[in-house]
Amino acid sequence: MKAERLDLRHAVNAISDVIQNRPMPLREFDQIYMKAGDMVMQSEYIARRFDGKDLLFVGDGDAISLCIAYLRQRKVFSYGPKRIQLVDFDERIVHAVERFADKEGLSDVITARLYNCIDAFPDDLMGQFDAFYTNPPWGASNDGESVKVFAERGIEGLRGDGEGVIVIADDPKLDWARRVLKATQTFTADMGFFVQEMQSQVHLYHLDDAPELRSCNLFIRSEPGRAPVAKSYQLHGARLENFYGREQKLHVRYVREKGRVDYGKAPSETYEIEYLEKT
Ligand SMILES: C[S@@+](CC[C@H](N)C(=O)[O-])C[C@H]1O[C@@H](n2cnc3c(N)ncnc32)[C@H](O)[C@@H]1O
Repeated sequence: MKAERLDLRHAVNAISDVIQNRPMPLREFDQIYMKAGDMVMQSEYIARRFDGKDLLFVGDGDAISLCIAYLRQRKVFSYGPKRIQLVDFDERIVHAVERFADKEGLSDVITARLYNCIDAFPDDLMGQFDAFYTNPPWGASNDGESVKVFAERGIEGLRGDGEGVIVIADDPKLDWARRVLKATQTFTADMGFFVQEMQSQVHLYHLDDAPELRSCNLFIRSEPGRAPVAKSYQLHGARLENFYGREQKLHVRYVREKGRVDYGKAPSETYEIEYLEKT
């Protein structure tokens, strides 16, 4: 399928509606949001690539899932997945997606569910999808184990013949990033997948300590005749160590939403009004 010519103003205005709806990122859980221009390009490409498919998102603070559904509805492009399911352990993200989808009439296209990757993948989602998308914690301090965990959950969601895209660090100057890329490819190959394509260094993030660190799209596809995964399982032990960085073990079940936050508006605790003197 050929890319459609994007009306840039229309596309960026729609992306900006989604950005206004995103909860503030929690750095301690590797929530580091993609930059707006890259979100436009990523949404268009993923929508085109997975046109007509059932698409699972394993974690999505960036809100690419919502962008895909919304930009299509706004006629920024005319293609996209048939159905999108997001799972994320942050209730703020799950609720923000649900509220936006409800307001914009997208609830029949996109649904979101609270789920922590350490738990067995939900029975009713096992083997239900044509493709998955994940932008996981990048595994700098655990040799890519956190990437493998998210990719494994994505693979559990797939029908036998399936594909996925893993968005991870890609910088030839960083040894850890090269090691994680290799570990991810070895792991997915062991699970019955081959690398179909790698789009190198295509995204930038709001990452103050490494603003130039880019990520790639690593596309994997199942070998013919692969059977869907029959049973999922709970994770424990070594796989949870250094999950979000050195000494940052995965020890949280969910991030809960406290009250309803109006995301595009300044929280009242962050400012104070000083009035003009009466004349
Ligand atoms: C880890 S971040 C990666 C960076 C990405 N650019 C972002 O900010 O979304 C991706 C998503 O994974 C979610 N996440 C982190 N740990 C998780 C876990 N244990 N189970 C499920 N989702 C998780 C985060 O809430 C976030 O939405």
